[in-house]
Amino acid sequence: MKNTILYLKNKNFFFKRTLQILGRLIYPDHFPANSVRVKLYRKLGFNNTRTLLRNITWKAYHIYCLSGYSKTAKKDDMLHSAFLNNGYYVFPPSSSSSQVLNSLPEGFCETLLDKAKLGVEGVDDDFFNITKLHHFDQNEFQIIKTLLDDETINAIRSIFDANFLVLSAYTSRSIPPLEKRELKSSWLWHADNHPDCMIKVFFYLNDTDSLNAALQIHPRSSSREIFNLGFIDRNDVSPSLKLKLDDDNRYMNLEGKRGTRIFFDDNNIHRAVIAKERCRDVVVFEIIPSRNSDIQYMELHSKYWKNPFTSSIPLV
Ligand SMILES: [Fe+2]
Repeated sequence: MKNTILYLKNKNFFFKRTLQILGRLIYPDHFPANSVRVKLYRKLGFNNTRTLLRNITWKAYHIYCLSGYSKTAKKDDMLHSAFLNNGYYVFPPSSSSSQVLNSLPEGFCETLLDKAKLGVEGVDDDFFNITKLHHFDQNEFQIIKTLLDDETINAIRSIFDANFLVLSAYTSRSIPPLEKRELKSSWLWHADNHPDCMIKVFFYLNDTDSLNAALQIHPRSSSREIFNLGFIDRNDVSPSLKLKLDDDNRYMNLEGKRGTRIFFDDNNIHRAVIAKERCRDVVVFEIIPSRNSDIQYMELHSKYWKNPFTSSIPLV
C-alpha cells in the first residue's frame, strides 16, 4: 500500500513536471523564460523567447513575404551580409538623406517633441522622465514617410530580401538629466524579444555620439556568446556576465551625424544610454517584411504580434 502511494506520488510529480516543461516550451508568453527553453529555441534558430506557436507563425509569414518578392531595385549584397553577420548596420548620411531631412516641414519633429509631455501617466518609470516620445498618427506618418527615400527603402529591402511595412513609428528625444540616474529599464542591457524578422531603423535628427545617447549594441557574435552563458533577464545578471556585458571592447556605440540611419536587430543585446551633454532627437521605424510594395503604416503594432497574417494587412 505504502509503495503504491509512493509510486502514484512519483508518477504525479513526473506528470506535473512534464506538463510544466512542455508549457514553458510552447505556451504561453508570460511564462518566465528559462534556460532550457532559451537553449532549445536557439537550436531551432529562434532568437527570442516568445511562444513556439508564435515563432512558427512569424517564420511562416517571413517565408511567405520572401516568396512573393519581385525585386525592383538592385540588392545591396554587402549591406545584406553585414547586417546578417553583425545584427546592425550604420548607414552614413548621404546627399539623399540630407535632402529628405531638409524637405520636412520646418521643425516638424521638434514641434511634436516640444509639445510631448515627459513621463507616462500612472507609470513610475525614470526612463520616460527624461525621454520624450511622440507616436505618429496616419497623417503625420504621410509626412515622416519621406525619410524613407529610395536609398533607405533599397537598404531595408536588401536586409529582408522582401518588401516591408511599418508597424510603428515615433520620434523621441533623450534629455540630459539634472541629477545622476540609477540605471534601470531600457538603460540596462537587454534584448527586446520581438519577432525575429522585425528590425528597427533609427534616423538621427542631430549629430549623435557617446555624449548624447548613441545607442549601444553587442554585435551578433557577442550577443550569442552572452546568451549562451545564460543571459536572460536584464534585472538578474551575475557578476561574470556583467563583466562581459560592460566590456567596451565587445559592444559598439552606434554614433553618426544628422541624417545617419541605423538598422538594427533588437533581439541582439543593446541598451539606451543617458545623454550626458546635448539632447538627442531621433525618428524610429519598427519594420517587418510585407508582400505589398506600398509602405503601409499599422500605427500600433501589438495586435499584429499574435498573427501577422491578420486580414487588415492586404495580401497581394
Ligand atoms: Fe530595447
